[in-house]
Amino acid sequence: MCRISEFLPVLLIAGSALLLAGCTSYYNPLDDYEQLEPATILAAPDAAPGSYPAESVARGRYLVSLLGCGSCHTDGALVGAPVPGHELAGSSVGIAYSNPMATSRPGVLYASNLTPDPATGIGDRSLEDLVRMIRLGIDQHGGETIPVMPWPAYANILEADAQAIAMYLKSLPAVRHEVPANVRPGQRATAPFVYFGVYQSRQR
Ligand code: HEC
Repeated sequence: MCRISEFLPVLLIAGSALLLAGCTSYYNPLDDYEQLEPATILAAPDAAPGSYPAESVARGRYLVSLLGCGSCHTDGALVGAPVPGHELAGSSVGIAYSNPMATSRPGVLYASNLTPDPATGIGDRSLEDLVRMIRLGIDQHGGETIPVMPWPAYANILEADAQAIAMYLKSLPAVRHEVPANVRPGQRATAPFVYFGVYQSRQR
């Protein structure tokens, strides 16, 4: 009869060889990262009275709170705590958009400053520019944005609602805050970033 105790030393040796092989060949890029709590949904800040109809600006504020724009577009919202006075003024922490299992140097986008600061924010964008970005992900140069900014989810928003969001953003107090430049896959990111996403194992 075959008893397990007779095979125990063999099993142990085979087991440690496997473990050794594992240690030398297996690299999990996620080991370099820590897991964070999901982003907070932030209330949209007050707008200053300006040239746009007050009802539209109020509607825009309501939609920006509801759609959670601030949870990407605010310093400290992705990691840590939202920085007071920097609501919607862009994020110094980026969001990676390529597969973390495939590369340790993913492409990274930094959510823009959405306050009307002329140098670092949306000061020079027209209402039409902003509406196209929100509904179609088309930037001011006519290029399509990588859908880290979830414009496909906003594509069916009513024109009047997209306009209201744009009017609200243009009515925010301007905050001067430059976000880091976007990073292409393979380049080294010089500012921190997080990963969003759902990853399915290929092993069935
Ligand atoms: C999941 C994160 C995320 C959410 C949520 C999000 N955005 Fe963005 N947004 C981004 C990123 C990242 C960029 C930068 C894209 C780029 O540089 O290619 C961006 C860019 C933009 C721009 C372009 C700004 C410019 O300088 O041209 C506008 C406008 C904008 N977002 C508005 C919004 C609005 C309005 C909402 C809510 C309805 C929103 N975003 C929600 C991540 C997000």
